[in-house]
Amino acid sequence: MERIGFIGTGEIAAAMVAGLTGRGHQILVSERNGAMAAALAAQFSDVTIAPNDQVVADSDTVFLCLLADVARKVVPDLPFRDDHRVISVMVDVPLADLRMLCAPVNEIAITIPLPSIAVGGSALPVYPDSMALRSLFADTDMIIPCQSEVALNAHFAATALASPILDQMREGARWLAALTGDQTASEQYLATVFAGFLRSMTENPETSFTDLLDSLATEGGLNAAMRAHMREAGVVDALADGLDALKPRLGLTDQTPMLR
Ligand SMILES: NC(=O)c1ccc[n+]([C@@H]2O[C@H](COP(=O)([O-])OP(=O)(O)OC[C@H]3O[C@@H](n4cnc5c(N)ncnc54)[C@H](OP(=O)(O)O)[C@@H]3O)[C@@H](O)[C@H]2O)c1
Repeated sequence: MERIGFIGTGEIAAAMVAGLTGRGHQILVSERNGAMAAALAAQFSDVTIAPNDQVVADSDTVFLCLLADVARKVVPDLPFRDDHRVISVMVDVPLADLRMLCAPVNEIAITIPLPSIAVGGSALPVYPDSMALRSLFADTDMIIPCQSEVALNAHFAATALASPILDQMREGARWLAALTGDQTASEQYLATVFAGFLRSMTENPETSFTDLLDSLATEGGLNAAMRAHMREAGVVDALADGLDALKPRLGLTDQTPMLR
């Protein structure tokens, strides 16, 4: 049994709690946001709501799930001990700042969960590697230790692909449903198609995106036509430009070695 605390009970904390519940842990969540905390406590018998300072005092591992500006105000007043393990999921709060904010904690790591952690099977880049994170999530999710904070931040940037790609899939499903009349079936169809593609990669690491694209490149085929259309419309270039635009915020430069 581990005592796990969440400071900041928002979207990502709720997903992590859903992923951790039912495994014999004691889970404390902070009072804000109130509706989310109440919903988690009502749904899961191992979740209790407490004020921020009690969440920290009564936990061994503390997840920081605040927005960066809130964290800089709130975290220094929390009763951290040197034997706490702190795992931040926050963008824009570097490790050096976390060490000051959470003093005297020695064991601090940053990881990047996504909402799919609620059902397991997600990827958790982390820097530095964290036994605390592994002990909680390695059985259900893939821990990806990064070799530097820069490499971790590059993964933060890559997570920003999720919204634009899901947005395109939603638009595709809307388009399909306009013809079939069934929005749910259209969304489930596309989710299943893409889950299958992605599973064929994760189960066979030697398979690349290029391999998948090659398998869809029949000359004159529907996929080849659509891919050419999207490239000509500038969609792929826009995606790369958008990722580049995130670099300054994340301390990434073109000279940055992209070590994992
Ligand atoms: N969402 C994601 O997919 C995702 C993925 C990776 C990393 N992250 C990181 O996770 C962090 C949180 O993101 P989020 O999407 O979960 O945001 P969010 O839903 O806005 O959650 C932040 C929570 O902090 C609470 N809060 C505000 N002031 C507080 C205080 N003084 N004490 C305790 N809690 C307080 C807010 O409550 P109120 O609503 O009452 O203000 C809110 O529920 C961010 O740093 C983000 O970069 C998010």
